Amino acid sequence: ITLIIAGFIASYLIGSLPTALWYGQAFHGIDIRNYGSGNSGATNTFRVLGKKAGSIVMAVDIFKGWTATSIAAILLHLHAFTEPNLITYQLFIGILAVIGHIFPIYANFRGGKGVATLLGMVLAIHVEAALLCIAIFFLVVLLSKYVSLGSMIAALAFPLLLLMPRFSPDDPILIIFGFAMFAIVVLTHQKNIIRLIHGEESRTNIRFRKK
Ligand code: G3P
Repeated sequence: ITLIIAGFIASYLIGSLPTALWYGQAFHGIDIRNYGSGNSGATNTFRVLGKKAGSIVMAVDIFKGWTATSIAAILLHLHAFTEPNLITYQLFIGILAVIGHIFPIYANFRGGKGVATLLGMVLAIHVEAALLCIAIFFLVVLLSKYVSLGSMIAALAFPLLLLMPRFSPDDPILIIFGFAMFAIVVLTHQKNIIRLIHGEESRTNIRFRKK
């Protein structure tokens, strides 16, 4: 039980690392939350600080979710837990990393929207479905130019994919988790949804390559 609680705390602290905020402060002397969409996440880092900064922040944020979830697996394997316990523990520990990313203890609880960290988590748990969600994300972003719309549709695609026999998970709890995570992503994107409805959401400059 000590191990489990330690895992939860460690995961929240890992998720809490405010990558976008610290990167902006360290290399550009700005608080990213005062620019662009005001979000302390990879998308806004791309928008405000460019490709290099955005890629680094995105990689670290994905890695946070992946690490937390993987640590859970390693810790539990060491203690020879059974598989159903493992997935439940991985899910809870992963959710804490995502919550840490959204409400970081090191940044007055004003963090990002959880998407990259959630992606890292699902990559560690169900790589096939996660990769397909990345493809769906890029497709939506390329067609609509809205990153937020891509994030939300990809988050919904994950549990929907798991309902298909091809991607059916060993433990159905993963499907419930997927829908819960989609609900969290919708909640963190409330302002984006309002902007989308009013046609005021900012568009990315990602384009199809012209021949
Ligand atoms: O992952 C966050 C993205 O979906 C939206 O970010 O900065 O456009 O609000 P942003």
